[in-house]
Amino acid sequence: MIFNQRLMGYLEALKRKYDILYPECEAAFNDLMHMMQASFMARNDIYIEKDSGATDWIASGETVGMMLYVDLFSENLKHLKTHVDHFSNLGISLIHLMPILMPREGENDGGYAVKNYRAIDPRVGNLEDFKAVVSEFHQKGIKICLDYVINHTANDHEWAVKALMGEEKYQDYYLMYDDSAIPNAFESALGEVFPTIAPGNFTFNEDIQKYVMTTFYPYQWDLNYKNPRVFHEMVSNLLFLANIGVDMIRLDAIPYIWKTLGTDCRNLPEVHVILSLFRDIISVCAPSTALLGEAIVSPNVIVRYFGKEERLECHSLYNASYMVEIWNSIATRDARHMALMPQYDLPQKSVWINYARCHDDIGWGLDESKIRNLGFEPQAHKNFLIDFYLGSLDGSFSIGELYEYNPEKQDARNSGTLASLAGLEKAIESSDRYQVELAHKRILLIHALILLRKGIPMLYAGDEMGQLNDYAYKHDPKKMKDSRWLHRGRFDWSKSSPVFDAIKELIDFRKKAYGQKYIVEDQPLLIGNQHVLLIQQIIKEESEDYLLLFNMTEDRQWVYTTDLKRYGYHGVWIDLLQGKQLSFEEEKILLGPYEFLVIQKNILKK
Ligand code: GLC
Repeated sequence: MIFNQRLMGYLEALKRKYDILYPECEAAFNDLMHMMQASFMARNDIYIEKDSGATDWIASGETVGMMLYVDLFSENLKHLKTHVDHFSNLGISLIHLMPILMPREGENDGGYAVKNYRAIDPRVGNLEDFKAVVSEFHQKGIKICLDYVINHTANDHEWAVKALMGEEKYQDYYLMYDDSAIPNAFESALGEVFPTIAPGNFTFNEDIQKYVMTTFYPYQWDLNYKNPRVFHEMVSNLLFLANIGVDMIRLDAIPYIWKTLGTDCRNLPEVHVILSLFRDIISVCAPSTALLGEAIVSPNVIVRYFGKEERLECHSLYNASYMVEIWNSIATRDARHMALMPQYDLPQKSVWINYARCHDDIGWGLDESKIRNLGFEPQAHKNFLIDFYLGSLDGSFSIGELYEYNPEKQDARNSGTLASLAGLEKAIESSDRYQVELAHKRILLIHALILLRKGIPMLYAGDEMGQLNDYAYKHDPKKMKDSRWLHRGRFDWSKSSPVFDAIKELIDFRKKAYGQKYIVEDQPLLIGNQHVLLIQQIIKEESEDYLLLFNMTEDRQWVYTTDLKRYGYHGVWIDLLQGKQLSFEEEKILLGPYEFLVIQKNILKK
């Protein structure tokens, strides 16, 4: 009944979009409808009940996420359950379990080479263990996010194995060619994702004497979405994940999923059609499940993956540009880069994921024209950032490593944990207590920049404990070539860190200050002091705005109140974090090293 009603609302759109990709495939479309119905029929009543609230939970200020590798955090899923208090204590309400679907044997790109989408990596448990985690965490009010690697499968996935055995049906699941003509033609317009550790986009397979498209590692075979069978299989797996209780499905590497010869095969229009179909299908079959897209491209391209009100795509996307801007501002001590970030109107109830670190590297994809307008030469600026976070630059507090270093182009990205990049490792090494203190403040400021803005904050497990770089990967032949393992260390339960309590306080504050409230506007404003970031927040339920001030430097900074009055703000204000009073009638406001304030006009509340 509910299913039919919902389907009616989407049927016409589904058919129209499906026809764009797979014209004249009437029977296949009907099969898709049947698959959707079967999936709905198999859905657990508990989730059907949750579906009535749709994905409202993602827009709530209460939602605070953390991402973690199960094996590094707790060995396995059974033990993960015993750490539920760590999350509750910190105030985490959404956990992204990094890839735990069964990966290929041997190297597997941190689990992003999946052998079986319907089984759990035996090293961390099985499907029953996973369901037990879901139910336990749900009871504690914690939602679960899981990766769904949609661009490629591992080369030992059942489909790939059948393709290797010569079954044409399955060879057609991938992009395979008998000679190098088409691969070469593709290559001439393609970029490279891993130019040094896995160059090129095709891998010649000796067994079947064919070239296979492998945009990422040679063992990650790109799927051929031009084949409707692939689309159906992937929809079926998507619905499977929703039905085992996954609240948020992270769609990996979305820009790459559609390939057209002669193009760079990134962000093609058909990708948007596929995502919009995924969205409609999930809205019919499992509407409380949110889709999180991973598209690490320029902001104006990322934002398109939210879709439009009348043609929605992902509920949520990583705010990759903001992450880069945070690190840029920390190194330059210049807040203007962040203040000048373009702001986008998102469809209703769509949210950014704000994060500072994750399992991947930091790529310096800054807006070059903006860099130029601020008076810097983009290449020189990029080199400055690379060297700064490598720690090779005089005066840098960071210790990191290069990732994908290309000596010819003098190009690289950076790896490292939040704490090591923020100066803690160097400060500890040099037994410099003052620098340790500054590093702690910096770590807190970076967390404040993700916890106090509009969007879902997503912490990377270990960062709340100030975890340092882990160099063990250099001795593991399966990992040594990929420096991203530097910031994928084993979670160290033996250490306590003063940043933990401070971050916990900040999360508590976020929940109290924003909670169920709705941030209508979250707008950076330029002020005279370029070292300080000012954000204006308009909160629907509050009569007075919030003003956020972040000192991006280790020095004291003053903000002239004329700057604030210019935006129409006067009177006496109170900092909601510490309770201190500030008068805009004074000439200036003082901010301590890396201090941040959330201030609101002091109207005496009854
Ligand atoms: C995503 C993941 C990254 C992985 C890649 C290939 O970008 O975040 O870790 O290497 O996809 O699956």
